[in-house]
Amino acid sequence: MPTSEQLKQPKILIPEIKLQNRVSELAQEISMDYRGREVVAICILKGAFIFFSDVIRQIDVPMTCEFLGVSSYGNKMVSSGEVKVTLDINEPLEGKHVIVFDDIVDTGLTLSYILNSLKARKPASIKSCCLMVKPDSLKTEVEVDYTGFKIGSEFVVGYGIDFAGQFRGLPYIGYIEHGH
Ligand code: IMP
Ligand code: MG
Repeated sequence: MPTSEQLKQPKILIPEIKLQNRVSELAQEISMDYRGREVVAICILKGAFIFFSDVIRQIDVPMTCEFLGVSSYGNKMVSSGEVKVTLDINEPLEGKHVIVFDDIVDTGLTLSYILNSLKARKPASIKSCCLMVKPDSLKTEVEVDYTGFKIGSEFVVGYGIDFAGQFRGLPYIGYIEHGH
């Protein structure tokens, strides 16, 4: 159960303007790299939904969008390493240029699982774009091709990212103290 301390207004880690600027830079970089190709943009639900909506609106190449639901945390603040698919993609990815958009790479176990399972569908290429990476928490080697921000090991919320289901609507990235 979250403590009342943890449900207080989170402190700001990345303000809205910084988020928006970085999202635009990522979109520009992706638009340049994929010029002349058609992309399948995959949003990892739920955490990436706001990041995804912002970034794809600025990517200037032909694109279709897919949504992959995974759940790895439940209401806990540490990764279990177990990944459950809650919503699968029905469209074939074979021969397609796939970019996976995720919110956070913490241990890396979730993204690594996702990339491996999507590779089995034989895309022509697959890259990943993550809003935040916690380099000190990585437990597995996982390739992040486009990184928004490298952050410490703080527990972050907002801009689509939750703690116990809360805080997804904050326009900034905030952090809350770890419970003991
Ligand atoms: P990983 O498998 O440890 O890399 O965990 C990745 C997933 O855990 C992310 O996609 C998030 O859904 C969740 N997660 C990791 N760190 C945080 C955090 O600081 N706040 C909220 N969710 C997090
Ligand atoms: Mg996630």
